[in-house]
Parts: sequence; C-alpha cells; structure tokens
Amino acid sequence: MEIDIEQTRRNISLETNPEKKSLLGQYFTPFPIANFMASLFAEPHIRDCKLLDPGAGIGSLTNAFLNRFLDDLIPEHFSTINIHAFEIDTHLQPHLSGTLSSYSSINSITSYIFLQDFIQYGVNQLRQDLFSKEPHTYTHIIMNPPYKKIRSDSIHRKLLSQVGIETVNLYTAFLSLGIYLLEPHGEMVAIIPRSFCNGPYYLSFRKLLLSETAIKRIHVFESRSQAFKDDDVLQENIILHIERSGIQNSVGISFSNGLEFDNLTVENISFDHIIIPGDDQLFIHIPLDKKKNSIDINDHIQYSLSDIGVEVSTGPVVDFRVKSDLESQPDLNSVPLVYPSHFSDIRVEWPKLNSKKPNAIRKNERTSQFFYPNGFYTVVKRFSAKEEKKRITANLVDPTTFPDQTLLGFENHLNVFHTRKNGLPEDLAMGLYAYLNTTAVDQYFRRFNGHTQVNATDLRAIKYPSRRALIKLGRWIKGQSTITQELIDKNWEKIIS
Ligand SMILES: C[S@@+](CC[C@H](N)C(=O)[O-])C[C@H]1O[C@@H](n2cnc3c(N)ncnc32)[C@H](O)[C@@H]1O
Repeated sequence: MEIDIEQTRRNISLETNPEKKSLLGQYFTPFPIANFMASLFAEPHIRDCKLLDPGAGIGSLTNAFLNRFLDDLIPEHFSTINIHAFEIDTHLQPHLSGTLSSYSSINSITSYIFLQDFIQYGVNQLRQDLFSKEPHTYTHIIMNPPYKKIRSDSIHRKLLSQVGIETVNLYTAFLSLGIYLLEPHGEMVAIIPRSFCNGPYYLSFRKLLLSETAIKRIHVFESRSQAFKDDDVLQENIILHIERSGIQNSVGISFSNGLEFDNLTVENISFDHIIIPGDDQLFIHIPLDKKKNSIDINDHIQYSLSDIGVEVSTGPVVDFRVKSDLESQPDLNSVPLVYPSHFSDIRVEWPKLNSKKPNAIRKNERTSQFFYPNGFYTVVKRFSAKEEKKRITANLVDPTTFPDQTLLGFENHLNVFHTRKNGLPEDLAMGLYAYLNTTAVDQYFRRFNGHTQVNATDLRAIKYPSRRALIKLGRWIKGQSTITQELIDKNWEKIIS
C-alpha cells in the first residue's frame, strides 16, 4: 500500500497544474508524515471509532490511520471504525475509493465518501434551526486541510458566519468545523501552516481553539521546505494534536528536519510559555528549533513595553493617501518623511536624494496630525523579504540627522517606538535598537509569527529587559566604534544582567 499510495501521490502532483493545486490546496501528505500524524492519537479508550478526513485527497491520512490501528488489531483496540471522507474534487474519487476499498474486506470498517464541499456540510450539521438534527460527531479527525484565503464576500464566509465561525482562511475554517464536530475527548491531528499563531485576523480562531480544546502536542518542521517538498510549498508547517474539552497541561513539542521521525525527543513545555499569561491577543509561541531561546530563560527579561514606559505605533503617514503632499526634496514648507528605504546600518540616513521614495511631506492642515516632534526614536521595518535572514530590523532615528527640523513624519511601512508621541531618551532608544536587533529577539518573534510582516501588536508581544537595563545597553553600544551583529549577539546578555 505504501508504494502504491506514494506513487499515486507523486503522479497526481506531477499531473495537476499549479493553478488547480493552489485553487483547491491540493498538496497531498507524504507517507512518512501521514504515518507520523496517525501515531500521535492516544491509545484507544473507546470501542467505536468515528473518523473524519475532511479534504481527503487520495485518502493518504485515512490510510495511515487504519494502518496504525490495524497493525495491532487486538481486542483492546477499536471494535468498529466508521469513516467519513470528504473530497470536493470528483476527479480524485477513483483514487480515494481505491484506497478505502482496500480495507473493505475487514468487517469492522465501514467507509463513506462524500464528494462535496466540507464547509457546506459542516455548517449544515452545526446549524441550529427548526429542522436541524443533532450533528454527526466524530471521535477522531485527521486532516491536511486546503490552505487558501477566504474573501469576505465569499459564499464560504457567509456560510461560516451562520454558525458563528469568523475566519479568513480555509484551513482555519476546516479546523473550526472539526473542533465543533468532535465529541468530548475526541482527538484531532492536523498538519497546518503556523500563521494562525498571531495576528488579529486569527484571534477568533485562537479563542475557539483555546477555549474548546487542549493542545497536547505540536510538531515543528525545522526546515520550511521539507514537509511538501515535491510540491514546492514553502509554508512553515506544524502538526497539531488537540483534544476536545481536554485538560490543558504542558504541551509536548518535537522537531524534525525532514521526513525522518525516528528517535524524536519530545520536550514538555509549560503552557504559560506557549500562551503568555495576560496576553489578550492569545499569541501562540512555538519554539522554532531545539535550541533554548535566551529570552525565555533569562530572568532579566520579563517586562512589557508599557512596564518600561514605551509605546509602539505604526507609522501614521499612508503615502498613497497623501500623494499630492509628497516631495522628493525637503524644503522650508515640508517635514522630513522617514521610509524603510532610509535605513542604514545604525541610524537612518536622510535625505536619500537618489531614492525612488520621497524624502519629505508638505506641512498643511491635512498632514499636520501625522507628525511627531524631532527626537530619538527606534524604528522597525514592517515588511521583510522571505529570503532576508532576519524578520526584525531596527534602526535609530537621531534628531541630528534632521538639522533645523522640529517635526518628523513616519511612513506606514515602519513601526515607531515612542513615549506618548514624543521621542525617547537617547540611551533608551539606542538600547532598544540593540535589543531588537539581537538574533535572540528575532528567534523569539518567529515563534509566534510565521510570516514576514512585523506589526506593532507583534512588537508589544515581545518581552523586554527593564528600562534601566536597556539604557545600560544603549550606553554600551554608543561606546562601540563598529557595531556588528556578532558584537551585539555576543555581548547583549552580559550588559543587561
Ligand atoms: C491539502 S490537500 C490534502 C489531501 C489529503 N488529505 C492528504 O493529506 O493528502 C486538501 C484537499 O482538500 C480538497 N478540498 C479543497 N476544498 C475543499 C472543500 N471545500 N471541501 C472538501 N474538500 C476540499 C482538495 O481537493 C484537496 O484534495
């Protein structure tokens, strides 16, 4: 079976054109991953298993599930297994039927293939109206759901909101319906991107996940391209194992660097390292690799931005909204405008007269609401390219860069650290610059943010050293003749301790 199903998966992957793959999220699970996913379910403690495989493709996950529990079909295992496999693409039906029918001789197994939209089905099950019946629920769910944005005017979005599910991607829609369709103590194992771990769009999904289920295990692929390498998928994927209405204890975290799952070590991480207590955004912090992150284990780093009297905001100047006020060269009637393109090694360089971006913005009634007084600020880019080594890049805004200027404009692709819309003390701004540029902060950030965008909410979710320690760090960095990544990484912990 292994050889057949792997061959079919590879053939279909080669035959399917990229548009269809991306439209239906047709990235099938390689055999070793499917087997590993099936291995995560607890030993059976019930007799009758009701399994759901939504978006079943060619049935690789159900196949792995059955192999796991048939391998040792002994009395302690399930007496019956009833399978519901959903697949919207009718072209896959022969393969899916082929996979499931290879178990048809086993009396205790019954399977049904639903060639239909799982979202439509799930919503119909959960809708509570005059004619509704009790939903068909499941004891086990295994899924590799399609990944695709759902537009706010789409039929899926409307359907989902009928049962109170507000979400922006098909994968979190599948997961949400799955959670609701699980029986108490039912388990789900899913392979999914990690983009739900942060950001306001996934907050309502995180609320549902954390209120209805206990997270038992998270498996992390250390290399972003490994899980679906035949399909060139560059997602950061994780495998999540959850239990409906379970008790939330510590979470087992494991890592693999490819399709090799033997000899994994599972580290149990206390739940308050996964969700930081008091975080109303419920960011989910997932370690990226086996190495311990120094921010987590350093007792000196335990402050929020508000503890240290600093705020962070998105740069208020949205350039396309004030196009007619932008100036390539500063003059007497304009205010310097800082873009990420002004970043240099340490301090922003301004003006950059050969740059495509403007250097100034005219001061008038419409624009004056956007300006900050000239001063010291730490600024962080909001966007980085995938191939860039670091997600968080900070620079220092130094008032002497803008001689004779009383005001500054910050463009929307920047995050600005300030105190009540005023500049920071120089040493504090320098200290924040150094701290935010450490590799440790970058690693810490990646634990809850799987994409390239760094927003103000993300920067608020990071833990900081005390204000005094940051000032000390700022003074130290000011005294250095050359500042390199290596120098910062080697010394910052010593300085703040
Ligand atoms: C990422 S693939 C995974 C397939 C299979 N579970 C596996 O692991 O190999 C997702 C599957 O969901 C199917 N699909 C996409 N949208 C669907 C929907 N609304 N309802 C049911 N299936 C859907 C796709 O055709 C595709 O086969």
